[in-house]
Amino acid sequence: MTKRSKWGTNLGFLLAAIGSAVGLGNIWRFPYVAYENGGGAFLIPYFVALFTAGIPILMLEFALGHHKEASAPKAFRHIDRKWEWLGWWAVTFVLFGISLYYIVIIGWCANYMFFSLANSWGSDPNTFFFEKFLASSNSGVWDINGFRWPIVIAVAVIWFINWLITYGGVEKGIERAVKVMMPLLFVLTALIIIWALFLPGATKGIKHYVTPDFNKITDLKVWIAAYGQIFFSLSLGFGIMIAYSSYLSRDANIFKNSLIVGFTNSFYEVCAGFGVFSILGYMATRQGREIGEVVDSGIGLAFVAYPTAISLLPHGNLFGFLFFLLLIIAGISSTISIIEAFTSAVMDKFELSRRKVITTICIIGFFGSLAFTTNAGLSWLDIVDHFLNQYGLITVGIVEALIVGWLYRTDKLKAHIVSNLGLSGKRHKVFDYVILQLWMYCIRFVTPIALGIAIIHSLIREFGEPYEGYPISGIIVLGVGWILVTHIFAFGLSGLPWRGDEPEEKK
Ligand code: PHE
Repeated sequence: MTKRSKWGTNLGFLLAAIGSAVGLGNIWRFPYVAYENGGGAFLIPYFVALFTAGIPILMLEFALGHHKEASAPKAFRHIDRKWEWLGWWAVTFVLFGISLYYIVIIGWCANYMFFSLANSWGSDPNTFFFEKFLASSNSGVWDINGFRWPIVIAVAVIWFINWLITYGGVEKGIERAVKVMMPLLFVLTALIIIWALFLPGATKGIKHYVTPDFNKITDLKVWIAAYGQIFFSLSLGFGIMIAYSSYLSRDANIFKNSLIVGFTNSFYEVCAGFGVFSILGYMATRQGREIGEVVDSGIGLAFVAYPTAISLLPHGNLFGFLFFLLLIIAGISSTISIIEAFTSAVMDKFELSRRKVITTICIIGFFGSLAFTTNAGLSWLDIVDHFLNQYGLITVGIVEALIVGWLYRTDKLKAHIVSNLGLSGKRHKVFDYVILQLWMYCIRFVTPIALGIAIIHSLIREFGEPYEGYPISGIIVLGVGWILVTHIFAFGLSGLPWRGDEPEEKK
């Protein structure tokens, strides 16, 4: 058996896990989701979701990976061989689904980083983005036409960078890279936020961001949005946190690590919101418009609203360059984590060499990403994103909570977490009886029920009207198809014989 890789330090692990969590989801998804769902009032469901599902599931994934020293499929197989497929499914649909288009978006950012220098979008960023850059086909999902070459080239470069980093392994590749990327990311973020906060009109934007609309929090949709955001943003249900924690040293403190990663990620996104809304406030002021008119949905926010602001800003070119660079770094520190999660699963089961696995994944991944670089790329991305996020991640979350909560019994993982707390006497007891008891309660009841309601609600809506009015054929082939094909693939992989040491079932 090949020796399991290890992080050089706990800090290296933390930076890598935070790198995975902090991504495009924090910088442009969160501010928009928060704004749409009640502004400041959204923070209530958001933090409820963080405490009842985010941190509990994060702690579950960390504890499971660390305790079993295994990637997701192997860890689940340890619990019961029937569940190995769940681990395979998670790493498969995230790598060969979410990451394929996620890297395409990073590729757009790479193009926009250079466009910023020359204000290439001219006076109409909207037309530029949809008609010139993406050349989106108006006639729908099946109007594929051809590739957008500037995007293809950027995507090739991004996959290459991912390959370069992960090829070096856990300590010499990923850990080394995040030790450079993450400090850079934090400095750039701080710079951009401070820059934005001092712009005229910033307060107008911030007011919009934080003004609570309490009417909204009685709406179930808002709660579902909060749980969805927490899952995507913390990379939960991806199989990533299980793999990452399996490389920790035996005496690592799982409880502390979960809190650090969970809070840093949320702190980052709430702060990013201040930056984004300051810019929007500035833009609205300059153009004499209302914030409501300048704010845009996820994709439009980064590629339409921001370019408009960049053109108006003093030193906008530099601002734009740094902003898109920031998105690229945040994005790559996320994609390397899923490449690692999949690789670790394959290495655990088939004992193949890391380098071969990584090279194969990156080549297949590049070709897979091409599906999202055609004239129909935007609608493909939109459909696949919706289905994998709403159903894939949430399903993994529910099943994982149920398996660990009821089949494996949380008390075993609890004992594992407690063993490394380094507490004694009374403090130990308080921890054990109060905090971890609450955690167990969340895993067994609160998380599966909350996520269950979310998924049923989404399903009902799905049957009511096709998502975003896309043709049914597109929804079935791309959305449902992606879920089914990755499932079949996962079942196939879990059915293959083990070459690595096969975990015995320990209940
Ligand atoms: N947590 C990431 C984000 O917020 C999501 C992600 C992780 C996407 C890993 C792809 C791979 O953006």
